[in-house]
Amino acid sequence: MEVVIVAGSVEVGAFAAGRIAEIVAAKPEAVLGVATGSSPLETYRALAARRDAGLDLSRVSAFALDEYVGIAHDHPESYHAVVDREVVQPLGLDASRVRVPDGLAADLDAAAEDYEAQIAAAGGVDVQLLGIGGNGHIGFNEPTSSLVSRTRVKTLAPATREANARFFDSLDQVPMHCLTQGLGTILDAKRALLVAQGASKAHAIAQIVEGPVSSMWPGSVLQLHRHATIVIDEAAASELTLTDYYRYTVEHRSIVQPDA
Ligand code: F6R
Repeated sequence: MEVVIVAGSVEVGAFAAGRIAEIVAAKPEAVLGVATGSSPLETYRALAARRDAGLDLSRVSAFALDEYVGIAHDHPESYHAVVDREVVQPLGLDASRVRVPDGLAADLDAAAEDYEAQIAAAGGVDVQLLGIGGNGHIGFNEPTSSLVSRTRVKTLAPATREANARFFDSLDQVPMHCLTQGLGTILDAKRALLVAQGASKAHAIAQIVEGPVSSMWPGSVLQLHRHATIVIDEAAASELTLTDYYRYTVEHRSIVQPDA
């Protein structure tokens, strides 16, 4: 894994947006995997600034990681609405090329299978942007999720519902279930780019970067990805033990070894 430690959340967003911009510049019809929640907001802001400066995102496609089950698409906290508000509009994406799992489908298993088929039909995800939960989840793959899981229905962990209650009027309103890309689905992306800021993520980051690969810390599955980059601020890096080495590798990153 490539671990990049920067000063704060603005720098996390700037670095991650730079990586995504490189991919889109090389492939204007790139397929992006997009995350919701607070962590990627600075990345989207920085990408929007790059778009204002001339980066063409109009041919990009995007697939969201997850969606709540049973919440209307026009509910402001549905991921359909969040992706439209935070990603599609500011980045000027073509909405017809943006997909979010259908948490309202009568047959959720069929919707999950269909989502996998849509990703495959698009040629797979070129770069998957990820946040991480305090319990180590990526997407909504909660602890003990199968490391080879595909898109499916999951029950949100109580800790995840509590963390996300800040977006709703009360805890009761946070849905119990979601449709989420699986860990195997995420591993299929050509690149994985995980962003995290703040001390509340420090333990999860230490576990997924320096701990064993384990379904107890689902993000640790990224150790099995050939091109995973973890972009974190100083606070999120505070429980890592090899920070000197990570800084050293970034300083000595050489063009003959582009995917360190
Ligand atoms: C969101 C998602 C989740 C979040 C995670 C962190 O689509 O899949 O894994 O990335 O819960 O959320 P924030 O960034 O709000 O702390």
